[in-house]
Amino acid sequence: MSEYPNSARILQRNRQFVPGGVVSVNRATSPEIVFVKGQGAYIWDADGNRYLDYHAAFAPHFLGHNDPYVNEAVIRTLRSGMSLFGSGTTELEGQLAELVCRHVPSSDSIQVLNTGSEATYQALRLARAVTGRDHIIVMQGGYNGWHNDVACNLMTPISQLGPRVSPGEYPFKPISSGIPEVHQRLVHPINFNDLDSVRWVCEKYSIAALILEPVLQNIGVIKPRPGYLAGLRRLADHYGFVLIFDEVKTGFRHAIGGYGSIEGVKPDLVVFGKAIANGYPIAVLAGKEELMNWFVHPDLSKRVLLAGTYNAHPVPTAAAIATIERLALNDGEVYRKVEELGQQMEAGINRVIQRLGLQAVVVRQGSAFCVYFMDHEPVDWHDLAEGHNFSFDEKLRQQLIQSGIYFFPLATKQCSISFAHSAADIDSTIEQIETILSRLTDSALSLPQSKTRAD
Ligand SMILES: Cc1ncc(COP(=O)(O)O)c(C=O)c1O
Repeated sequence: MSEYPNSARILQRNRQFVPGGVVSVNRATSPEIVFVKGQGAYIWDADGNRYLDYHAAFAPHFLGHNDPYVNEAVIRTLRSGMSLFGSGTTELEGQLAELVCRHVPSSDSIQVLNTGSEATYQALRLARAVTGRDHIIVMQGGYNGWHNDVACNLMTPISQLGPRVSPGEYPFKPISSGIPEVHQRLVHPINFNDLDSVRWVCEKYSIAALILEPVLQNIGVIKPRPGYLAGLRRLADHYGFVLIFDEVKTGFRHAIGGYGSIEGVKPDLVVFGKAIANGYPIAVLAGKEELMNWFVHPDLSKRVLLAGTYNAHPVPTAAAIATIERLALNDGEVYRKVEELGQQMEAGINRVIQRLGLQAVVVRQGSAFCVYFMDHEPVDWHDLAEGHNFSFDEKLRQQLIQSGIYFFPLATKQCSISFAHSAADIDSTIEQIETILSRLTDSALSLPQSKTRAD
């Protein structure tokens, strides 16, 4: 008998009509829980259990679930008679474009799409058109969407990938079948935080673009080393490739100008999604005018096709405008609060780690954090894959879920604090983490521990 009988019933029914029962394969989890309500920092499942949510649906809910300010804007838009017209422009999309360009230093103009994958697809096509080159560089351990160029080399087992290579590249390891072999030869996965490998690949191939998450946030939180992003900027200028920051996860969550604005590095193109509309489906491709103008190039043989029936649908567009307005209010109040909550979480978990004498580190960027069970902050996928205790991480996540705290039940997945979380929520999370880690430590004698226990 399932611990979650109503969830099990819904999933069983859906499995008859949807392969696997879920419409995005990364939502297939154990335990199999069906959620029915979200409000602020909390979500509820079909069996009446409430959870403090740190998954945030893979990170879009930065203000919290069903934020009233954003929802009001959506309701107002629907009541106004606004619809999807599919002919000409709308005032809404102009307002969104103006807001993004005002806040994001690397954005002269934007295009609006529905998903992060569409936006990274367009960014790469644009880069190839502008440079007249085909090859691209991606990061081992990064995720930039589901399409052929980038559906590769995420959490690749080291047994398949081989040992660290630097300078050099890794073989393309698809995370989907159906990617043509010939296409795979155009994509060059390298280490994050490794400028030598960028140089190595650029000397060997004609590179159109390098795309990366400026902080790797699909394998927790792996930060760029000081100077790394600026180094990429210099190499892009030197070799003439287009530097694309995939800020689908980092954008608007870490700063209203994107993570690039924190480091003062301007990519040529930047992609936003997720937190830009607090859970509504929209993505933005922004960048330098001379590149973006290729979408309307007067020479038709050079023009890049950008089309989409639902692009800038009024519902997500209104949500994005309201979200950005909310983020800009009171001189960054949202960012100040989530930074305080993040500091509280980091300090609290660090105290627990010390008290229990665990070999673990908390890595945090603002509201995003991850606990790695290893002796140092990882710098790239190899470092993480070789050092982290994955099974211990998963045990912690499973037990947190049982205690009403939802960390996504897959090792190394980033946790997201929202503006709706309170200091009391963070305290209770730290308490639960302590209880569970003490229990796990007592029962798991094989757990790697640091040599000194603080007690
Ligand atoms: C960094 C990054 N880029 C792109 C994507 C793809 O976005 P979407 O799922 O909206 O297509 C994701 C999704 O998780 C992401 O994390």
